[in-house]
Amino acid sequence: MKLYIDDANPEEIRRLWTLYPADGVTTNPSILSREGSDPRSTLNQIRQIIGSEAELFVQVLADEADEIVLEAETIAGALGGRTVVKIPSVPAGFQAMKALKAKGIVTCGTAVYTPMQAYLAAKSGAAYVAPYLNRIDNMGFDGVRIVKQIQDILTRGKYGAEVLAASFKNSQQVLELCEYGIGAATCAPAILDGFVKNAAIDAAVAAFTADFEKAVGKGKTMKSILG
Ligand code: G3P
Repeated sequence: MKLYIDDANPEEIRRLWTLYPADGVTTNPSILSREGSDPRSTLNQIRQIIGSEAELFVQVLADEADEIVLEAETIAGALGGRTVVKIPSVPAGFQAMKALKAKGIVTCGTAVYTPMQAYLAAKSGAAYVAPYLNRIDNMGFDGVRIVKQIQDILTRGKYGAEVLAASFKNSQQVLELCEYGIGAATCAPAILDGFVKNAAIDAAVAAFTADFEKAVGKGKTMKSILG
């Protein structure tokens, strides 16, 4: 499963990018707006941190197909590297995805709440479809079950699109989808950190250090013993 950081704070991204094996960064207009009024500078900083080989997802705001295509071309041209353009999975969005596929611009069908939206985005040529798991849960449906259903539709239909599950509220939801073999998940910093936030893990690591230091002295490591 590919793993993305769902955030736009350059410092947080630098920290998480350094620690974890992430494949890229996903943003949306709301996430970018939290960083202030200059999304161009924020996006350029993120691109610099993750490099040109990693995927950076940036969403369009236009709502007419022709304008979406022009905006997508601008995004891809301005941010370079492996930029993926997020396009809402609505009728004008599907029209734009088809046109952008023909132009070689990689897209992600976003704002996916239903399996048939995902089907249409995939069939329109989107490389990713992004269901919003937690928001689906909040509507009274089973988000994990719907994301699995979307994964099955994409796999069996062989559309060449991957699921990029988004909007998680806990690591258990990520685990269930990881186990199921979904293509990708994007997680907010707190969810990512939560994968390894466990007192038992910290206690085990601290006990190894304490035992070793008891035998050979405070601050000693294998480097100082064997080096
Ligand atoms: O990027 C889209 C998605 O991550 C939204 O998450 O937490 O706003 O539902 P959330």
